[in-house]
Amino acid sequence: MAALSSVPMSRVAGGPMENENGGKADRPCRLTVLGATGSIGTSTLDLVGRNAGLFDVIAVTAQTNARELASLARLHRARAAVIGDETLFAELKEALAGSGIAAMAGPAALVEAALMPADCVMASIVGAAGLKPTFAAASQGRRIALANKECLVSAGDVFTDEVARSGAELLPVDSEHSAAFQALAGADPASIEKIILTASGGPFRTWSREQLQGATPEQALKHPNWSMGAKVTIDSATLMNKGLELIEAFHLFPVGVDALDCVVHPQSIVHCLVSYKDGSVLAQMAPPDMRTPIAVALAWPRRMAAPTEKLDLTRLGSLTFEAPDEVRFPALRVAKAALRRGETAPAVLNAANEVAVAAFLGRRLKFLDIASLVEDTLELAEKQGAIRKAAGLDDILAIDTQARRLAADRLARY
Ligand SMILES: NC(=O)c1ccc[n+]([C@@H]2O[C@H](COP(=O)([O-])OP(=O)(O)OC[C@H]3O[C@@H](n4cnc5c(N)ncnc54)[C@H](OP(=O)(O)O)[C@@H]3O)[C@@H](O)[C@H]2O)c1
Repeated sequence: MAALSSVPMSRVAGGPMENENGGKADRPCRLTVLGATGSIGTSTLDLVGRNAGLFDVIAVTAQTNARELASLARLHRARAAVIGDETLFAELKEALAGSGIAAMAGPAALVEAALMPADCVMASIVGAAGLKPTFAAASQGRRIALANKECLVSAGDVFTDEVARSGAELLPVDSEHSAAFQALAGADPASIEKIILTASGGPFRTWSREQLQGATPEQALKHPNWSMGAKVTIDSATLMNKGLELIEAFHLFPVGVDALDCVVHPQSIVHCLVSYKDGSVLAQMAPPDMRTPIAVALAWPRRMAAPTEKLDLTRLGSLTFEAPDEVRFPALRVAKAALRRGETAPAVLNAANEVAVAAFLGRRLKFLDIASLVEDTLELAEKQGAIRKAAGLDDILAIDTQARRLAADRLARY
């Protein structure tokens, strides 16, 4: 893995914009939302609905939620609605009857949606399932509002190479990376001392290891500050999410592994701090509402209004920070090791973690064993030669499949 990000800041920061929402000055921004029924997708469409005339919705996609997808497509007058699960095509078609909106289904149709002409694509499918459609959008040189962290975690250099080749632009949607992007403001990489991501610490921040052993899915799904999809909420509880975000940051920003760090900040008001070599530290603050980083990505380089609570520091009183505990939250240690190992280790980490989180939600794995299963899978993958330089997207997808199989086999021992 290269010591410096292979994405020049200009690729991340975006080139000059024609207007505040990514469209040409005389027309609204043509926007496709991949994963429209999810937490990020619905927040994106909420902003679109509140900013009449700024956006023209091209395509919306989902996996299983055909009825909700159809109603979002109708509400936002999309040209096309795509359901990933082919067996739900008839249901989607019926729900769209008489609307004039094209109904499509299947994995290839998800890619087709991403290829439709658009000014901006919100990439908010959860998990490695988002890789192919997001790569398709990147191949067209689109502006990509990137929520799907798996593209950078699993496909890293392969994805950023595609972005560089096609001239696509990445605008981070993860709140910490949006914050870093804003605090960096195109800074000279040589002037950066550290990029410090914050973590809320999740619902188990103060729990002992013994308590963590008995943590249930219901308890883990109760995030103290953020309302998010199930997968990322569990990742926040294990702190794997922060590990995935460090990997994401490595690929987005022009710094090496040693310049990336994280700190626990239970109030989730400061999302990232950029410390410069002259001693200045720039932090971005906002109440925890994903509509803020989504609005930043949709409107960059300008700003658009978002109906979020406004920050009142006097009411908050204090902001606190503490070091993460990698003994109680071993997933963070495992993810950091995968980042340092490089090559396809983060892809294996991500695939094994998806298997582990699904098993935890299905009550087949204990909370602390999520990190153990991921670590075991990384060891097995190393022995089998699966951790190596990836040749391209197909290679990444093959490694992803292999790692899922290894993790699923290993799961039987827990
Ligand atoms: N939520 C947050 O606050 C947040 C913050 C930072 C980053 N992120 C990242 O943003 C991404 C989306 O997160 P989320 O919380 O919005 O997830 P989510 O609420 O679970 O929504 C996921 C979306 O992806 C679709 N989907 C699920 N499986 C799919 C598959 N196999 N193929 C195609 N589409 C599929 C879902 O469709 P159905 O509804 O039909 O299942 C839904 O539209 C993740 O990568 C996450 O890490 C999220």
